[in-house]
Amino acid sequence: MKPFVVVANRLPVDASPGGLVSALHPIARSSGGAWVGWTGEPDERPEPFEHEGVRIHPVELSGDDVDRYYEGQSNSTIWPLFHDSVEPPVHRRAWRVAYEQVNRRFAEAAAAASAPGATVWVHDYQLLLVPGMLRELRPDLRIGFFLHIPFPPVELFMQLPRRADFLRGMLGADLVGFQQPLAAQNFLRLTAQVLGLRPDGERVEYEGRTVTARAFPISIDVAEIEALAADPAVQDSARRLRKDLGGDRRLLLLGVDRLDYTKGIDQRIEAYGELLADGIITNDEAVLVQVATPSRMRVDHYRQLRERVEREVGRINGEFGDVGRVPLHYLFQSRTRAELVALYLAADIMLVTPLRDGMNLVAKEYVAARRDEGGALVLSEFTGAHSELSELCGGAFSVNPYDVDDLKRGIASAIAAGPEDLAGRMRRMREQVRAHDVDRWARAFLDTLG
Ligand code: ADP
Ligand code: F6P
Repeated sequence: MKPFVVVANRLPVDASPGGLVSALHPIARSSGGAWVGWTGEPDERPEPFEHEGVRIHPVELSGDDVDRYYEGQSNSTIWPLFHDSVEPPVHRRAWRVAYEQVNRRFAEAAAAASAPGATVWVHDYQLLLVPGMLRELRPDLRIGFFLHIPFPPVELFMQLPRRADFLRGMLGADLVGFQQPLAAQNFLRLTAQVLGLRPDGERVEYEGRTVTARAFPISIDVAEIEALAADPAVQDSARRLRKDLGGDRRLLLLGVDRLDYTKGIDQRIEAYGELLADGIITNDEAVLVQVATPSRMRVDHYRQLRERVEREVGRINGEFGDVGRVPLHYLFQSRTRAELVALYLAADIMLVTPLRDGMNLVAKEYVAARRDEGGALVLSEFTGAHSELSELCGGAFSVNPYDVDDLKRGIASAIAAGPEDLAGRMRRMREQVRAHDVDRWARAFLDTLG
């Protein structure tokens, strides 16, 4: 096997939640590869070390880099812009400069960590300039790039200052992967519109090389989730959870997300509150558990979201709760994977309602956990997972999260569905997820990269 290097903003070492680390860690582990990334703490650069079979090469970020590159350009400019501008992106020159400097640092670290002729796989929106910079340093490498988040429509991308630089950065790769075919098309159209290139099908010639842009929908480690779901200790905690929440008479609804404004958490809670207010469900019949993992808490939009959500949780529990029994449990906490799977097993209805999401691995994890073919998935049309779990197999209850009435309708349909309908839906979703796990995703990408 060729030497293999992953380059991503985060290292797989802390308890950082998020799809990227969950998806890639198993692959880096099984290939004995190296991983270039940031520890998550400012001003910290440990020497390279081994971690669970992966050689770790830390990249240092100063406090200023964290402010400008991570919280600024990555998470206040690119993140909102690429998610349909659901919050307004902020543009600052100083952030762009820091982003370029930090991307160069990552490219240099990747060049130093890569053996001659190695395959280097660069990930996500924090590192859009790295493929181009790395190619200049090391033309001998095979370079892949995968974007885990959506790639925006042409009109939105055009708003990005220095947009041509970002496209050139991505074109440094031999293969550019996206979650959805439409995203790959947007990218190819932009190479024509902004750089005057001539894409042909999924290929485009750039500086004497052929670059391919294609969709590779990401997935999860199905075997890991299934093993946790089969573990008697996990099943016990699922039973305990149900008992603590009121037993089988009470329907358990569940949300599990990073606390991010793209996840539609406030819309979901609003819909649930209205279902209680309308008397369609009561506190005796149902309970919602919302796990919201702290994320990017120094960014204003995230702090504001937290305030909105916590205010609404308080209002709903105040209005519809009783002593010793509330309709909404809100956990602003991280949980272990075993605890998440126990929640998945306990939940009658999983609510995944993002306003926009590249894929959404939580939806796939829920399906993988339900070996019993129980449970129901309410899924936003604006997630990557919707193509597979709804359009392709008709398993999920589709909702438009921008429309509270539609959210309520989707939840009510899941509540009203009969056991045979639900089992059939879950079976179809499970077939899809089990046949397309993360290993297959990585192999498809790496085989195409060659
Ligand atoms: P994103 O990458 O935007 O965070 P995904 O749904 O694609 O969203 O991936 C989230 C990943 O993080 C999943 O693997 C999920 O299990 C994990 N995760 C989410 N919330 C928590 C939590 N509270 N504790 C631990 N892991 C979490
Ligand atoms: O793909 C989504 C993503 O932004 C990853 O790049 C990231 O690691 C994860 O979500 C969690 O976000 P953060 O690294 O900013 O905590």
